[in-house]
Amino acid sequence: MNLPTQTFLRLLVILLLWADRRCSALKWLALYKNKQRHWNSTQHCVKSRQYGLVSNQIKICKQHLDLMPTVRLSTKMAVETCQTQFSDRRWNCSSAGLAPKLSRDLTTGTREQAYVYAVSSASLVHAVARACSIGVTTKCSCGALPNSPPDGDFKWGGCGDDVQFGLLFSDIFTEAPMTKKGKRKTGKKAAINRHNNNAGRRVVANSLTTACKCHGVSGSCSIKTCWRALPDFDKIGATLKKQYAVAVEVAYRRVNKVKQFIPLNPQIRNIRGDELLYYTKSPDYCNPDKKTGSVGTTGRFCDIESKGSGGCLSMCCGRGYTSFTMEIIERCECKYYWCCYVKCKECPKTLHLNQCR
Ligand SMILES: *[C@@H]1O[C@H](CO)[C@@H](O)[C@H](O)[C@H]1NC(C)=O
Ligand SMILES: *[C@@H]1O[C@H](CO)[C@@H](O)[C@H](O)[C@H]1NC(C)=O
Repeated sequence: MNLPTQTFLRLLVILLLWADRRCSALKWLALYKNKQRHWNSTQHCVKSRQYGLVSNQIKICKQHLDLMPTVRLSTKMAVETCQTQFSDRRWNCSSAGLAPKLSRDLTTGTREQAYVYAVSSASLVHAVARACSIGVTTKCSCGALPNSPPDGDFKWGGCGDDVQFGLLFSDIFTEAPMTKKGKRKTGKKAAINRHNNNAGRRVVANSLTTACKCHGVSGSCSIKTCWRALPDFDKIGATLKKQYAVAVEVAYRRVNKVKQFIPLNPQIRNIRGDELLYYTKSPDYCNPDKKTGSVGTTGRFCDIESKGSGGCLSMCCGRGYTSFTMEIIERCECKYYWCCYVKCKECPKTLHLNQCR
């Protein structure tokens, strides 16, 4: 290779690495691929760079080793929730599973990107708040009990999820890739990701409910204690999907010397903190396209009876589908034998499947 070519290639590599670094705010979603169970050495943090942690996050990791299995768990929960919520959609969140590599559907400011950022930060709040209440770390414990007197026949007590600490930790951890030399990045990309991360946290904070426990002779409930608890994460994932459906398209404009997101629809006056924002219209995700990060729907299974998003008409984008049957063996007619086992028969079952062309 001659010298100019070499220099050119080197420049190209630097440029590619740089372009890559610009969208590093979601790479930590790959952390679940790190099979580390016991985080007792800062080496485990350094090694996590390959699973998407950036330098600022590695610092946090070193200071919070005890919470790292929880952070890891939260990434698993986020990816699984996203893929479950979107399993019957053309865009099925498979790209979240590619992290730390990020395809363009997750870097160009789409609605899908908004969901994934929100579900990741929300999942981190949820996992950390739970971890606090079960005593995983000494940095937090039970959530604070409400100051207001209970409106009912019970006392505040018990150990609730420490949502305050979860919110704080999620904020610090998700903000870390968007901070450079102690300063928050303020470009459009960082700003939209920050908003959607915050929206995810807002949805968790808004979803707190009251859980109670009865005490007293043989569960008579003469004494009832209640605390503030989070619902299961599926429920938060579902709420976020509703927010996805009504996400607001925005432009980043200077207003009174401050850049901010303005809804394109003039009928929308202001943006609520729990609303998801996007600035790039999504493709229809019908065909593979590197430019948009679409992988297409060829090979996807569809529901022949449904007229909705999982139905063959919508899923296969009019290309049609192949139908076939498959025999599987299912456990069936299970009987419980005292004590203590279950015995099942094996029943053959025919599945009728339809796969998009
Ligand atoms: C970390 O934990 C593992 C499993 O408990 C143990 O085998 C290993 O010796 C520990 N390493 C350090 C540095 O404490
Ligand atoms: C999601 O779609 C991709 C691309 O069509 C496919 O490879 C993958 O199996 C799908 N995942 C699920 C969970 O359906």
